[in-house]
Amino acid sequence: MLKQPLGFGLGLRTDHYESILANSPPVDWFEALTENYLVPGGKPLHYLDRIRERYPVVLHGVSLSIGSTAPLDLDYLRQVRALAQRIEPQWISDHLCWTGIAGSNTHDLLPLPYTEEALAHVAARVRQVQELLGRRILLENVSSYVGFSASHLQEWEFLAEVAVRADCLILLDVNNIHVSAVNHGFDAHQYLRAIPAARVQQIHLAGHEDHGDYLIDTHDHAVPDPVWQLYAAALRHCGAVSTMIERDANIPPLQELCAELQQARGLAAAVLAEAA
Ligand SMILES: [Fe+2]
Repeated sequence: MLKQPLGFGLGLRTDHYESILANSPPVDWFEALTENYLVPGGKPLHYLDRIRERYPVVLHGVSLSIGSTAPLDLDYLRQVRALAQRIEPQWISDHLCWTGIAGSNTHDLLPLPYTEEALAHVAARVRQVQELLGRRILLENVSSYVGFSASHLQEWEFLAEVAVRADCLILLDVNNIHVSAVNHGFDAHQYLRAIPAARVQQIHLAGHEDHGDYLIDTHDHAVPDPVWQLYAAALRHCGAVSTMIERDANIPPLQELCAELQQARGLAAAVLAEAA
């Protein structure tokens, strides 16, 4: 069902374009942010084409707004399809969230009410998107700070059921599970156990801001210990999965991220050897 794991990747960031091309760093693949490459021509696409010649690439979007009740943005989807034809990504992902309504975009990945009605709505839309793109997509769990009183399912039940009903794949963000577990007071391991392992195609690792009794998902720190520990648990649950580090702010030199990625490689090797 799943593609073979790609190994250990990094989010492709503008700051690193030149360094990647000059140094061919030991990164197995890159995740490109879809919206940065939708305009035909221009510098970003020039770099992406050149990096794609050397590395496998996956596309990761933030604009799908799969949970919104606004109609799907067909123009956006056509642009994503055209980009995919050009780049031939290993896969395309976006988030299990909504970002706006009635023409307004909050540019935030907002959590959904975890209800049967929302479940049916999202699953039908994922099927529509997959038909339009001609491939299965990955949906990523988002971090959150508030929830809806209408929710009668747990987030992990909702994510697992969307994936089954829509026959889509999962991008499991281990940092987001940890952040939400602290913020909402649930058990991150209970979340993991509910996830259908056979649908987890990719894992995100990242850091966050620790405010004591709550965490903010800032992606501006190195991966902290609790996230490494949860990553180990995710690997015990899922087996080998393509893994990458997401850094969106305070972006360090590429070598520093490669060293952090090496830590992921070492941990995964140890966990998978233990499980074998
Ligand atoms: Fe993520």
